[in-house]
Amino acid sequence: MSYDIIGNIALVKFNEKTGERNKKKIAKELLEKHPNIKTVLEKTERVKGRLRTIKTKHLAGERTKEAEYKENGCAFRFNIEKCYFSPRLAEERKRLMQMCRKGERILVMFGGVAPYAVVIAKNKTEIKKVVSVELGKECNRYARWNAEKNKVSSKVRLIQGDVKKVLPKLKAKGEKFDRIIMARPNLKETFLKWALMVARKGAIIHYHGFSHEDDMEKMVEEIRKECGKEKRKIKVLRVSKAGDIAPGKYRYRADIRVMN
Ligand SMILES: C[S@@+](CC[C@H](N)C(=O)[O-])C[C@H]1O[C@@H](n2cnc3c(N)ncnc32)[C@H](O)[C@@H]1O
Repeated sequence: MSYDIIGNIALVKFNEKTGERNKKKIAKELLEKHPNIKTVLEKTERVKGRLRTIKTKHLAGERTKEAEYKENGCAFRFNIEKCYFSPRLAEERKRLMQMCRKGERILVMFGGVAPYAVVIAKNKTEIKKVVSVELGKECNRYARWNAEKNKVSSKVRLIQGDVKKVLPKLKAKGEKFDRIIMARPNLKETFLKWALMVARKGAIIHYHGFSHEDDMEKMVEEIRKECGKEKRKIKVLRVSKAGDIAPGKYRYRADIRVMN
C-alpha cells in the first residue's frame, strides 16, 4: 500500500489483495500514528477524465472529503474527489515560484485550486500579476477561497473555463505573459498552440510532460514540432524530473524560451 497525507486526510491506495478488514485496521493505525490525520480515505479509482478527479471510500475517522492543507507558507482547502491536487508537487511549486521575477505577468494553465498562483503571489510579492485558468467550476470555487484566505486576491486573477476558449479571448484583448506555467493534465494534447497565443517574445514556458525515461527525447521533439507549426522559435533551456508517475515514467518539466 501507499498513502499521501493531505493535511487532515490520509489518502490510501491498497494493492488488490488487501481485504476489507485489513484496510480498516490499517486506517485505524494511521489515525493513531498521526494525530493530525482526522480522516482516512481509500483511493478506489485512479485519476480520470478531463477534470483529473479520483473516487474515494471512507475507511476511518471523520466523514469528510474536504482537505485543509498547508504548503510553502500557504493554506489550502479543497474537496479531494472534486478537485485534482497532489501534495507531491509542493517542491515543484516552490522551484517554479523561486524562478518568478519582479514585474512579471504570469499565466498558470490548468490552475486547479490555484496552488501555483497562490504560492507565487504569496511568496513573490514583487510579481505584477498571476492569472490562473481552470476548467472545473468546483475547483475554481475553492481557488477563490484559497486566494482570499491567503490574502493574495489583488495579485491573482482566476478564470473558470477551457484554456482553448479563454486564451483566444485574452489574446484578443492584447494580453501577453512573461512566464507561462503549463501544469498539464496527463492527456495527449500538448496545448502549446494556446500557450503560444499569449506568450510574448522572450517568454518562458514551463511545460509539464509525461514520459517514460527512454522516450524523453521524443517529448522534446514533439514540443519543437508544435512550436514550429505556430512559427515560433524556441530554445529548450533544460528538462528536469518533476515527479514519479510509474516505474521508469516521470512528470518532466521542460523550460522553454520563446525567441520570437
Ligand atoms: C494535473 S491537474 C493540475 C491542477 C493544479 N495545477 C495542481 O497542480 O494542483 C490539471 C487540471 O487541468 C484542468 N483542465 C483539464 N483540461 C482543461 C482545459 N482544457 N482548460 C482548463 N483546465 C483544464 C483539470 O480540471 C485539472 O484541474
